[in-house]
Amino acid sequence: MTAQDDWRGVDEGWGRKAVDFATMSEPGNCREYVALHQHLGVGADDRVLDIACGAGLAVELAAARGARCAGLDAAERLVAVARDRVPGADLRVGDMHALPWADGSFDVVTSFRGIWGTTPQALDEALRVLVPGGRLGLTVWGHLKASPGAWVLFPFTLAAEPKVANQAAMVALGRPGAGEQLLAAAGFVDVERVEIPFAWEFADPEAYVRALASTGPAYEAIEAVGEDAFIETAQALAQERVRDGLPLRAEIQVVGYLARKPVEVASGAGFLAVPPTTAGVQSLYDDDVAQQGFVMNASRLWAHLPAVHDGLFDLLGQAARAAGLTVRQRGVLVTACASTLGDSYCSLAWGKKLAGEADAALAAAVLRGEDLADPVEQALAVWARKVTRDPNGTAAADVQALRDAGFDDAQVFAITTFVALRIAFSTVNDALGAHPDAELGALVPAPVRNAVTWGRPVDAP
Ligand SMILES: C[S@@+](CC[C@H](N)C(=O)[O-])C[C@H]1O[C@@H](n2cnc3c(N)ncnc32)[C@H](O)[C@@H]1O
Repeated sequence: MTAQDDWRGVDEGWGRKAVDFATMSEPGNCREYVALHQHLGVGADDRVLDIACGAGLAVELAAARGARCAGLDAAERLVAVARDRVPGADLRVGDMHALPWADGSFDVVTSFRGIWGTTPQALDEALRVLVPGGRLGLTVWGHLKASPGAWVLFPFTLAAEPKVANQAAMVALGRPGAGEQLLAAAGFVDVERVEIPFAWEFADPEAYVRALASTGPAYEAIEAVGEDAFIETAQALAQERVRDGLPLRAEIQVVGYLARKPVEVASGAGFLAVPPTTAGVQSLYDDDVAQQGFVMNASRLWAHLPAVHDGLFDLLGQAARAAGLTVRQRGVLVTACASTLGDSYCSLAWGKKLAGEADAALAAAVLRGEDLADPVEQALAVWARKVTRDPNGTAAADVQALRDAGFDDAQVFAITTFVALRIAFSTVNDALGAHPDAELGALVPAPVRNAVTWGRPVDAP
């Protein structure tokens, strides 16, 4: 069985006695469900997802509070019971590590002893499907040795050694600090630990044995020692605890974790979510760090199409080389273009660069649209402004001014293409809301910063 198919084997253990589980085991968890729903304030307006929903009793109880419910479990036969219980809910068979719902689909995500420290990717998925500010509630076993009712779980330890080790690893999430750390690492905030009431009750040892045998860990134990030995062990444990006129009762510590998905703050990278860091994106970021010392907001935006970013800059390089432009002359063209467009980002970035190549006064003069002393720079600045402002308003005389400044027609074409490509870059950044980086703002000389009175503001440091 491949890792991908792993979850498909879950039904063998958890689904084989689905009816017993639904009617004899799951109802014993009702205190836990009610308590967590109460802590989360599950109500009528909430879209709630229960991960590892089992036979769906928690889904049914959330629906009873008026929530619109969904649930997922790997055990097909348990999901069949859940669908019978809550026909109006969106109940799916699947893997908690690849939830079949879109980002931001739910206000509340719950999982009752379904997500454990051994499956941290499930938390990434829970975070993904929550809306910003959405609530997460998880339960895990608490301190079993300190729980008077822990005897009920003892027959699970009859399983083969690796299975028992895995059960122990799962229980580790209940230790103080463990869940808090895991949830914070997954990106959740406002993590809170709460006590959850939990008590299983059974009419007699036979009811207990049947309920216990319906679970997944019992299947692992039965695989190891056989059904008769499992039943015998469980029966003997329960027999010792029979009380006259009272049910068998097993109180177990259960820990609840409450957390939230952070509310997204306006990102300097613009209106789009920052995409995952692929190899192409990483190389974009690495170039920034090498050249600027930090990753630029613009790069986080262009991370949606790093190949187009690289292609665009490759074309810009080709045009600049064909035109024989110095870095200082490129600075004049870009600052004249960006200031005409009202693009603060490129105005500041290239104003700073031009200040380094020439001086801050010259950079500020180009940004403010003033005449420049150098006739070549003046011709370039005037042409960049005209191309940016009104490409249909240019005339042969404007091109002649560039020829007079020493550029031949091939260079004029390359200069014009260079400006047009810069307009494309600025337009994407501006339209999609990229802000000049705080780090950039801190490095820009005062005359340049003061000259830039347009466009999106610099990010707060
Ligand atoms: C301890 S039970 C909890 C069930 C239910 N939440 C309850 O309160 O009784 C664990 C559940 O996780 C499900 N499960 C195990 N691996 C899974 C996976 N990879 N994806 C989804 N569900 C899974 C099992 O089928 C089982 O129903």
